[in-house]
Amino acid sequence: MNKLSLHFHGLPFSLTLQLMASPIPPFLFSLFIFMHLGFSVEGITRHYTFNVQLHNVTRLCKTKTILTVNGKFPGAPVVAREGDRVVINVTNHVSNNVSFHWHGIRQLLSGWADGPAYVTQCPIQTGQSYAYNFSITGQRGTLWWHAHISWLRATLHGPLIILPFKNTSYPFPKPHKEVPIIFGEWFNADTEAVISQALKTGGGPNVSDAYTINGLPGPLYNCSANETFKLRVRPGKTYLLRMINADLNDELFFKISNHTFTVVEADAVYVKPFETDIIVIAPGQTTNVLLKTKTNPSATTFYMAASPYFTGQGTFDNTTVAGILQYKLPHNHKTPLQIPPLPPFNATSVVANFSSKFRSLASPQFPANVPQSVDRKFFFTVGLGSNPCPKNQTCQGPNGSMFAASMNNVSFTNPNTVALLQTYFSGRNNGVYTTDFPASPLEPFNYTGMPPNNTRVSNGTKTVVLPFNATVEVVLQDTSILGAESHPLHLHGYNFFVVGQGFGNFDPQKDPAKFNLVDPVERNTVGVPSGGWAAIRFRADNPGVWFMHCHFEVHLSWGLKMAWIVLDGELPGQRLPPPPADLPAC
Ligand code: C2O
Repeated sequence: MNKLSLHFHGLPFSLTLQLMASPIPPFLFSLFIFMHLGFSVEGITRHYTFNVQLHNVTRLCKTKTILTVNGKFPGAPVVAREGDRVVINVTNHVSNNVSFHWHGIRQLLSGWADGPAYVTQCPIQTGQSYAYNFSITGQRGTLWWHAHISWLRATLHGPLIILPFKNTSYPFPKPHKEVPIIFGEWFNADTEAVISQALKTGGGPNVSDAYTINGLPGPLYNCSANETFKLRVRPGKTYLLRMINADLNDELFFKISNHTFTVVEADAVYVKPFETDIIVIAPGQTTNVLLKTKTNPSATTFYMAASPYFTGQGTFDNTTVAGILQYKLPHNHKTPLQIPPLPPFNATSVVANFSSKFRSLASPQFPANVPQSVDRKFFFTVGLGSNPCPKNQTCQGPNGSMFAASMNNVSFTNPNTVALLQTYFSGRNNGVYTTDFPASPLEPFNYTGMPPNNTRVSNGTKTVVLPFNATVEVVLQDTSILGAESHPLHLHGYNFFVVGQGFGNFDPQKDPAKFNLVDPVERNTVGVPSGGWAAIRFRADNPGVWFMHCHFEVHLSWGLKMAWIVLDGELPGQRLPPPPADLPAC
């Protein structure tokens, strides 16, 4: 095997990164090209350096010190090709503990690089470094990276772009340009103060002050007109928008006036292309869409806008972020700008209609390997509940209690002196976790009917142990305890197939007959319908400890999470290797 190594400055690909709020300066990285007999290129190693540091940012006329990666908000893209290895050396220069998650990366046999604090690793402490080292196998499209501790992902996030193998094309027309579109939430307050206060009082946290597109709130907010994202386009061209919802707590509707999209990918898996004039995207989800610009636009500029989808009780940020699609034209066609008409915030039918359109490509080259039979079946309720108010305190949660959230009525307690994966790998549990997470609710009730009087959850660090390669089905059932609400459920270490979804209570007699086992969408984050259910299937072929949780940060804080322990297989390539030497200590 010949080994050839190159070093050069600059970005590897012609992404239109100059359109982002914070352009990426050239930086150094190394390429190691491994040539095989027959001269096929197997993949290279890409090195990135993440310095977590403070940075001042002004939005809505308020200057605030935020945590950033390398002084950028949002963070710069990590770009790699399918088959590459990525090494990201993170150094913590701030007083908070940090850890990073590569959202959607399968992490085959590399669970030590997955990142959720106290699940796969202890956090990186001030002055410490950790090199996340993983390869990208069988995935191509848009994912993202974000901090995975407390609410730090509010500002610590960025795109993770996986290009197809070299000399391989997309299964859709080659776009003229590619543009990341990251949605975020801007808080004038310090988000760590927001969540710590909420956890103290038991009440709901304060909501954000603005939504952002690539870090910019746009002209509909006070003192914000200069902070507007502009997408500059040429007429008659196709643009690939790599969309990411990095919001903490809000699902979004997105439109561009007078334009439509072709959805081609979701969570870094190709889908059967479909046309739509609206995108619905939940926190944690990513999607690639083609935007074909008009050959003869009626105006030079068109608004794009996003607003929240919300069906819960309580408050939410009911504002609209806008950006501008700007044509490069010889003449300025002066037609007044119009904000595209977005659906009402509670438009569940729009969401259901949109999510029903997703199908796996299921082609010979990109098959949908849906498990046709199931070894282990689970039924998990997801929703809110409460914990009692501590003595001598007044609480601001439901009826003077404290808000909690749970799966099968278990509100998950994160360990805080050790990480689950280390504990599991060492074989010495010492009561850090138990393996008795219930396969179905211990006390069944009418999940989406009249809510029960008792909203109390139980608390614990409960897991489910799965044998290697087991096929798994999980029905995720929303509850209406304290209000029906959609929940973006995310599974680490796997993609799953969404074989069915519906409203009301899942019917184990009738609903399985309607499952799509041919071309269901494959993703890592599914929106469990408000007052409904979603059924997912996956094959447990990746040993390790894998977090599953609601991607609303407040629900994560309240305990809407659990962990799977997937055992090693018999063969050498089916065992989790030992931890890297620099794995942080608690
Ligand atoms: Cu994107 Cu566990 O998260």
